[in-house]
Amino acid sequence: MNDRDIDIVARNAIMILIAFVVDDIDKAIDSIIHVWYSALIRESDFNILQQLIRPLIEDTCCKIRSKGPQALLSKTWTFGERSLRLVLEKSAWDKLLSFMDIPAGLTLQQADRVRTAVTLAESRKDYIDRHMLFQSPSHRVAMKRFRKDGLLLPFGALRDEFRFPNPTFFQTADSWQMKDNADPLNGWHAKEVREHPSGLATADIYGKLFYHIRAVLRDFVNRMSDLSVSFQLFQVDASDLPNRLKHGSFSRIEVSNIADGGYLGIHRTVALLGPLLQSPSINPHATLITLFMNVVDENISDQDQIADTTPLSPTTKRLLKYLPFHGMPSKNIYDPRIIKFNLARSIVANYDYIFDRFVKNAELSKFEPLIGFAMKEKNTIVEKWPFRLKLQPGQPGAQEEFDRLLSGGVSGKEIYLEWKRTRM
Ligand SMILES: C[S@@+](CC[C@H](N)C(=O)[O-])C[C@H]1O[C@@H](n2cnc3c(N)ncnc32)[C@H](O)[C@@H]1O
Repeated sequence: MNDRDIDIVARNAIMILIAFVVDDIDKAIDSIIHVWYSALIRESDFNILQQLIRPLIEDTCCKIRSKGPQALLSKTWTFGERSLRLVLEKSAWDKLLSFMDIPAGLTLQQADRVRTAVTLAESRKDYIDRHMLFQSPSHRVAMKRFRKDGLLLPFGALRDEFRFPNPTFFQTADSWQMKDNADPLNGWHAKEVREHPSGLATADIYGKLFYHIRAVLRDFVNRMSDLSVSFQLFQVDASDLPNRLKHGSFSRIEVSNIADGGYLGIHRTVALLGPLLQSPSINPHATLITLFMNVVDENISDQDQIADTTPLSPTTKRLLKYLPFHGMPSKNIYDPRIIKFNLARSIVANYDYIFDRFVKNAELSKFEPLIGFAMKEKNTIVEKWPFRLKLQPGQPGAQEEFDRLLSGGVSGKEIYLEWKRTRM
């Protein structure tokens, strides 16, 4: 696992270590969830960080005290058949240690003030209202509460114990680093979350998420207990990874959306990371998975957009089947019906033609003859367009599918590609 951002790597390392060192599985799972997602944690979670995780990291920091800040140092912790290898620069090891401590002067009240100055900012009111437009009334209540208290818990759960600012979020006493709309729901499969039982509180969306993550983490911890497994975590620019990892050694690589133009771009991503895949004679299924989040917006022309928004375009006609426009047509661009209509467009539109044009212009088919990597004709691991409607309007469940995608704030413009190696 790699990320160039120390916050990401440090939190990943801490959560894996909790899974390794806390013997009581229920305790480990709940602590991971709180450290992962809640702005405040319980004393017992804080004690795990201080008493079980801190000594592991402190030990390494002491050993490398005399090294220069840029010196690259690795440490492997082994727990029976399981291990974690962490490779960081000395300065990052020191930063990791600071993730265990609540910044001096940061009280519970100050932590709330600093966070809500972001999550409840007056200047974001309109943005929040637009998001709430797509939520059911009960979800609006839950979402407002999450912005207010920052705790991922079932709605009815007691909150008294959560009195310690989560030090993996608060690195200073006066700043909250995340965006106001950062929401744990965004990282999970909306349908699976909604279908997860939550007892009598059937509309408790964060409760469902909490129980869902508990179940996923339980599977993860149980699976690790009968597996010989080793994690390796790095904090480097992805373009540096080929220098640190064995070429031809991976059966699967997933790179998030660094294939987008604003990051490494698709050409560098495939050329740099593709060679890490096993060769086809060893594993014909070895796959590099790349995600585009921005490619449609970057390649759609004004002409395409105008054509797509005319009253008779296939997108508009399809959209009207899900969002029939009742009453007088409005010229007010702030009319909620119009805002909803415009935001919903990307879910029903078909962007194949934009993507095909990009593939052609970027000459992606030349990868194969030039460097021996080809896009799979059909994805076999992840859906190519995961947030596209699967049902036709009018089919049973079609409206629910549309409403679910819309309330999740997802964009129908995300595209996953799967790449295989075609030569040795
Ligand atoms: C590509 S970013 C995009 C963010 C995410 N997809 C979202 O919607 O907010 C995902 C992760 O990749 C990391 N990242 C971006 N470029 C990178 C690079 N060149 N090398 C390593 N990590 C990178 C970022 O730090 C971030 O944690």
